[in-house]
Amino acid sequence: VRGVYAGVVLAYVNGELCAPEAARVSPFDRGYLFADGVYEALRVTMAGAGAGGDPRVVAPHRHVRRLARSLGALSIPWPAGEMLTVARQLIEGSRLSEALIYFQVTRGVPGLAGRAPQALRTHVPPAGLTPTVFAFIRPMPRLDTAELAPPTKRCATGADMRWLRCDIKSIALLGNVLASVQAAGAGAEEAILLRSTPLGRVASEGSLTNLAVVRADGVLMTPALESASILPGITREILLDNNTDLAEGVVTEADLRAAREVMLLGTTAAVTAVTHLDGAPVHDGGAGPITRRLHAGLMELVARAREDI
Ligand code: PDD
Repeated sequence: VRGVYAGVVLAYVNGELCAPEAARVSPFDRGYLFADGVYEALRVTMAGAGAGGDPRVVAPHRHVRRLARSLGALSIPWPAGEMLTVARQLIEGSRLSEALIYFQVTRGVPGLAGRAPQALRTHVPPAGLTPTVFAFIRPMPRLDTAELAPPTKRCATGADMRWLRCDIKSIALLGNVLASVQAAGAGAEEAILLRSTPLGRVASEGSLTNLAVVRADGVLMTPALESASILPGITREILLDNNTDLAEGVVTEADLRAAREVMLLGTTAAVTAVTHLDGAPVHDGGAGPITRRLHAGLMELVARAREDI
């Protein structure tokens, strides 16, 4: 595959690997016109593979299950397990060993022949569309090993203005983009979103991660899926399944601001320590002991190289 990113990025569109510059989809695709589609972001790593081992996707079956759920919510007919076949092709074709795979499925392009002009763009999708599948792989630094400190970020709070189905991993991310831009304008690296509810403002998640806090009373808690509209993140799920002291519940704005430790959870973030919130230091501006333990535990699970962590 040739192109300016040759050897660095490889793309995939509807069954074919291609250079990113050669990737083409129709602007009539409903993904482009309506954000009518879903996505996944997968980590590829050699951690735990040993000499002569192959790079692999972390927690592949959890990602397939979530993709199936998102596709189901939109009634887009596409076999989610195929994502791993495409991932394998991208890994082999790129020869990258530490990488991120972005993978999206949109509803497709309405066939225009013989249709009324308004069929070009109708909110109710015509039946029988063929989904458009687009993916790419790019390098990503290897996760730190368990001995090393977690990554860190400075965060700013922002209003969660998103819709009520953030459980769907939709490609419609304008609320996340606006919050991220606002946080960047305040000199922060990510936004932590606050959702107004009848019970007051509650923390929902990061603009690209899930959230967990060690409350002032020492309780380790991540917002429950039903406490605010959030994404059921794979990293959050792995940590919940492997840490009996991690509780799910309501994290109020007051809990967040008084927290001993604040952390962000995600495929790219792993367990990231929030060192500053709205300019004020959290845990004296460094990673706290529980954040370190969760991060080290996650690294160990990833390095175990089992498919079902
Ligand atoms: N972000 N919450 C939101 C809003 C996210 O966008 C993500 C992931 C997560 C964490 O989910 P997971 O553990 O499955 O990565 C939570 C991806 C990586 C992105 O859009 O870049």
